[in-house]
Amino acid sequence: MKIIPTISDIRHCVQNWRNAGERIAFVPTMGNLHAGHLQLVREAKCHATKVIVSIFVNPTQFGVNEDFSDYPRTETRDCEQLAAEGCDLVFLPTVETIYVPTAQTFVSVSDISKNYCGATRAGHFDGVATVVCKLFNIVQPDVALFGLKDFQQFAVIQTLVRDLHLPIELIGVPTVRELDGLAMSSRNGYLNEQEREIAPQLYRTLQQAHDNLKFGQSIVDVENVAISELTQVGFVVDYFKVARRSNLQAAMPNDNALIILVAAKLGKTRLIDNLWLEK
Ligand code: PAF
Repeated sequence: MKIIPTISDIRHCVQNWRNAGERIAFVPTMGNLHAGHLQLVREAKCHATKVIVSIFVNPTQFGVNEDFSDYPRTETRDCEQLAAEGCDLVFLPTVETIYVPTAQTFVSVSDISKNYCGATRAGHFDGVATVVCKLFNIVQPDVALFGLKDFQQFAVIQTLVRDLHLPIELIGVPTVRELDGLAMSSRNGYLNEQEREIAPQLYRTLQQAHDNLKFGQSIVDVENVAISELTQVGFVVDYFKVARRSNLQAAMPNDNALIILVAAKLGKTRLIDNLWLEK
């Protein structure tokens, strides 16, 4: 497995692969890899002949009071895991490589970035859209894979690819969970023992909301009950919303393809999750 820090070397390697007729899959990450990331790599191998993973903790997607400096940097272990999965190349750039000091160009995907996580994390999705656009331009993959736990992020990237006519196929990969249902996340490591015990309640509440909607309970009631149950066990709920899956607008009673989205804090740790619902 090659580990490459520079744009010129990535381009050279990708060009050689293209000349040899290879199909290239790309998995962007911020490192601190867990089973969810490794599942993305496995899935990538089903869609391409070469797999590139980037590890880059992107400063522009963190707010001023967020965990950019604390975010775990575990590149050595990450690369060992990627090599074991059969990844072909790891792109490991520095911040200065991705953001030239005089950079003036940023990418913003307007409407879809506004609500949910975008409402409480100002500028977060502009940071994500900007770095993903840069990484796509550097790697120029045929296909890129993202986890569906960050469903709004996936929707933002889908919109970016559509609007900028990027010739990249996007694949969303279902969330990988711990045995107790907690969605895998690099941030789960921040939870203390007591918080870790409470954390799976997030998924259980999504499942309960899913069943209550199926039984015909109103969306408003389902959302309110879920928020109150999560608050009782110690979460500070940012949002718990039922939305239309196609565009993340608020769900209407006759909509069929829905998604239940939640973000909530346990202590200092912000967790997000979602569950799909067909009515
Ligand atoms: O989902 C992530 O890990 C990040 O938001 C991404 C897509 C790698 C961009 O930094």
